[in-house]
Amino acid sequence: MTPQPGIFAVGAPEHCYLELDGAPGSDPADLVGALAGLLGPASGIAGACVTVGLRPELWRAVAPAAAPPDAASFEHIAGPEITIPAAQHDAWVWIAGGSRSGVFDVAVSVSRSLRPRFGVAHEIGGWVYRTERDLTGFIDGTENPAPVEAPEAAIRTESPGEGSSVLLFQQWRHLDTFAELPVAEQERVIGRTKADSVELGEDVMPPDSHVSRTVIEEEGEELAIYRRNTSYGGPSDHGTVFVGFCARRHPLERMLRRMAGAEDGVRDALTRYTVPLTGAYYVVPALDALADVVDQPDDDRARRSRTARTPHATHPTGSGSQKLRAR
Ligand code: HEM
Repeated sequence: MTPQPGIFAVGAPEHCYLELDGAPGSDPADLVGALAGLLGPASGIAGACVTVGLRPELWRAVAPAAAPPDAASFEHIAGPEITIPAAQHDAWVWIAGGSRSGVFDVAVSVSRSLRPRFGVAHEIGGWVYRTERDLTGFIDGTENPAPVEAPEAAIRTESPGEGSSVLLFQQWRHLDTFAELPVAEQERVIGRTKADSVELGEDVMPPDSHVSRTVIEEEGEELAIYRRNTSYGGPSDHGTVFVGFCARRHPLERMLRRMAGAEDGVRDALTRYTVPLTGAYYVVPALDALADVVDQPDDDRARRSRTARTPHATHPTGSGSQKLRAR
């Protein structure tokens, strides 16, 4: 099973992310087919790379054998002081490329080609700040798995769902108060030095630093995810587009719960300076699994679509499911 190559295609400076909802009364298999069609020749236009994801319940309904078992829509996470909100949609499209014009052209063509099946619910442009830094000024990705290890963290190697990835997609808005802190205090918030991203020593590492909250061991193994974050926005409204891939949902969810203080009441200090605006999980299916859906004979697809409606009706947070249900 071949994962979508865009997950690992590093180096592009320009990005556009679209979150979409299916039109009322849509046939789920038809929606998935339309998304799969984006990975055809059009994805090469203007040198942009297109990656697609689907709301977990939507993908499972259409291709049950290709769905990671623990994948599910995002539900808000409540800590003692903050809530990480859910903003789940039916589909996610990521366009990455070398030029803003090229990415723009492909994004416009993608959103037009998906009409009327899909409407864009949320769109955001991402860009790379100072080669490798987040807008906090810190290097982002130091502890990301190296290219050879990234597929192990990001891609499921077993059935069901072999070759797929679970994506956590979020928009975080930065507050000016972080830049106003002395650098030494910023470093205690992150848990690494600002200039060169050296991890603080155990003796000085605060328990609520971002590193302390996201480094989690289970059965002697550190939970690993693969991050492809970018920056968004302009001078007065900006932040981080969090794009985190994992072979399963559990590590992503645990990291978020610990950041919110939902497990032990300790809130990630970073969340005092940056605000989660959205939260959604998507399955990023293997290329072959998407092709299988497109290649299904029409009567198979119709049968799948009929059985697909029940799970959508129980979807907890997304408006998309409501629309699909409203036939
Ligand atoms: C505004 C949002 C965020 C910002 C600005 C941010 C920034 C950073 C920075 C600067 C680092 C240290 C350098 C590195 O190892 O990459 C880091 C590490 C990390 N972050 Fe975040 N992050 C954000 C959200 C998240 C979220 C939502 C998660 C997980 C759900 C997460 C998971 C991690 C992990 C796993 C590490 C590596 C920890 C280690 O092994 O030392 N981050 N982040």
